[in-house]
Amino acid sequence: MRILCYGSLNIDMVFKVPHFVEAGETLSSSSMTRSAGGKGANQAAALAKAGCETYMAGKVGRDGRFLVDILEGFSVDCANVLVTDNPSGQAIIQLSDSNQNAIILLPGENRNIAREEIDSVLAKFSAGDWIVLQNEINLIGYIMEKAAEKGMRICFNPAPFDDTISSLPLSLVDLLIVNEIEGAGLAGCKGSYEEIIGKLSELYPGQEIIMTAGSKGAYYRGREGFIYQPIIDYPVVDTTAAGDTFIGYYLASCIRGLSVKESLYYASKASGIAVSRPGAMQSVPVKDEIFTEEV
Ligand code: RIB
Repeated sequence: MRILCYGSLNIDMVFKVPHFVEAGETLSSSSMTRSAGGKGANQAAALAKAGCETYMAGKVGRDGRFLVDILEGFSVDCANVLVTDNPSGQAIIQLSDSNQNAIILLPGENRNIAREEIDSVLAKFSAGDWIVLQNEINLIGYIMEKAAEKGMRICFNPAPFDDTISSLPLSLVDLLIVNEIEGAGLAGCKGSYEEIIGKLSELYPGQEIIMTAGSKGAYYRGREGFIYQPIIDYPVVDTTAAGDTFIGYYLASCIRGLSVKESLYYASKASGIAVSRPGAMQSVPVKDEIFTEEV
């Protein structure tokens, strides 16, 4: 089975700061590292490292060519990543002493994708293949409609959450994965995590829904009922791409034929290991580190 990740590729600039910069404040950082990221590319890296036949589609400038090289090093097929003369997407990431992150995006070529480019990518995929989408590229609604017409299965991670999400054809989604902010935004309510995921499953009946809640674990509602998965604790170094790692390993585990409970466990383990390492896609563990014990 093939998995197409149609999404962002970003040059991440990670500034280590004592706390997030506040209004009117000028703050010195103790270090800055340039690394490979973008929610789309991170999820593609996680899927490939988990052992899936993974294809990346998107757009970068020549300044981001190294992102493609890194993904190819993880065995991601990048034939559908267009390289142009315009600037790539970038992310300025503040990483605080309390191991939180805050991200500012510059979309660059990620939001410069044309309908004809999408048509030509999707022509290579067929019914039963998965497509994995996030909210860092343009024309997501169009991609969802065209992929659903072909009978592809859709995994959607509405990150970052904004006003455009509610106008997307979300009824076409098979697997919806949100964090607590995206979950509350989509559900249109505040409340306990159980209440939010309950509301989401009322709004999107028949879908598999997962809400990750950082150190509070992950919640599932879908064909296997309600399942809670606590985090699997590792020392925290850098939380960037924790959610992306979770998504890649959850879907990869389901595709291996594992149950939801098992898939949640392995996704949490992979995400825990990713936060114990610096960087985004580079921090994602490989499958031999994950599928080592029975759940
Ligand atoms: O999810 C983490 C990612 O979000 C970073 O790699 C950054 O590029 C932003 O897209």
